[in-house]
Amino acid sequence: MSALTATHSVDLQPLHTFGLPARARELRLLANRADLLAFARARQEEQAFLLLGEGSNTVFTNPQVDATVWKVALKGHQYLGCDGVHHHLRVQAGENWHQTVEWTVAMGWGGLENLALIPGCVGASPVQNIGAYGVELKDRVSAVHVFDLDTQLERAFTVDECEFAYRDSVFKHAAQGRYVITAVDFALPVQWQPVLGYGDVARCVGQFGAISPMNVLKAVCAIRTEKLPDPVVLGNSGSFFKNPIVGAAQAKALIEQFPNVVHYPAGLNRVKLAAGWLIDHCGLKGHVLGGVGVYSKQALILVNLGQGQGSELLQLIRYVQAQVKDRFGVLLEPEPNLIQA
Ligand code: FAD
Ligand code: EPU
Repeated sequence: MSALTATHSVDLQPLHTFGLPARARELRLLANRADLLAFARARQEEQAFLLLGEGSNTVFTNPQVDATVWKVALKGHQYLGCDGVHHHLRVQAGENWHQTVEWTVAMGWGGLENLALIPGCVGASPVQNIGAYGVELKDRVSAVHVFDLDTQLERAFTVDECEFAYRDSVFKHAAQGRYVITAVDFALPVQWQPVLGYGDVARCVGQFGAISPMNVLKAVCAIRTEKLPDPVVLGNSGSFFKNPIVGAAQAKALIEQFPNVVHYPAGLNRVKLAAGWLIDHCGLKGHVLGGVGVYSKQALILVNLGQGQGSELLQLIRYVQAQVKDRFGVLLEPEPNLIQA
């Protein structure tokens, strides 16, 4: 088993991108089947645990985490072949997401380029069905392989079984805590079609030359680098709240009152509102509370200004939620996994 330390004082600050001060009892790596079996045994003994990838969607708001943190470290990229319609790939859960996107594009397999530069590891990508610039993980996945901590057996979830939705999947609900995602299978189209409909992508790609997976990747990286803070410089977890989805009647009333509110269709009688716009129009861009704040360039991102504390972040979350609720009647739901115990 790959135990990194046997003490109760593991520093979690560098293990999550928001970078709050926190310490855990123990940190263990899940690098092979023996580690997975050890994890299953520890769980059966009712030892408190927490599963971690690269910590870009996990925020430790409590300075004392009374649990063992199991960090996924399974490695490997595999080309499974081509059936004429799709290139099939299997990527182990501990691989870095962006490096995986770069690998596929360098190999000439388009399909993941719009998801470039999303932090984190491959194993976490199905958990919230990562998405950006008009593509979601669910559009490119063919199966999710898991280790069942109850039965200690491997199995695969089909795409339907994953119950993917906007920033959501079965791994946040019925399957939470029972399965370790060990690998993800991708089906990337042989007949590649660019997805250029979102925001600035179509305009930006031209700067890099002809439309190709590589140039879309470059365009997405350029847009993201401009817009999103680098967690190495300024701690953050990307969008801190989900874009709220409301019913058509509520959306209609809001649009009548606030004609500029940014919104998108979200299925039958459902409308998605841009949470960044709502927060921005409460005048909160750049708002500071102790060592944390609302990012000055993008209101949907909360940042650690350097010395931020979990208690301050929880206070800021409540403040932003209350302001948006008061003004627009909409409750914002945090996107990252907040570890408060
Ligand atoms: P972690 O934070 O380590 O884990 C997230 C959750 O997944 C936890 O509940 C954890 O227990 C669980 N988990 C992790 N690994 C496994 C596994 N192997 N099996 C089962 N459960 C597991 N997200 C988007 O969707 N789109 C974006 O555009 C985007 N942009 C971002 C930009 C920035 C600057 C940052 C900091 C974050 C952004 N995110 C975005 C959020 C984040 O990158 C994704 O959610 C990412 O998939 C998290 O990966 P991780 O390895 O860091 O997950
Ligand atoms: N907006 C404002 N003010 C702001 C921020 C945004 O008016 O301060 C407006 C923008 O002008 C735009 C709209 O809100 O019209 C949406 O903004 P943007 O295009 O930046 O996207 P977003 O809704 O903030 C979402 C995802 C991102 C993803 C991008 C690109 C969510 C919660 N966030 O952000 O995902 O990268 O679209 O697809 O769905 C993440 O999940 O962590 C994440 C970064």
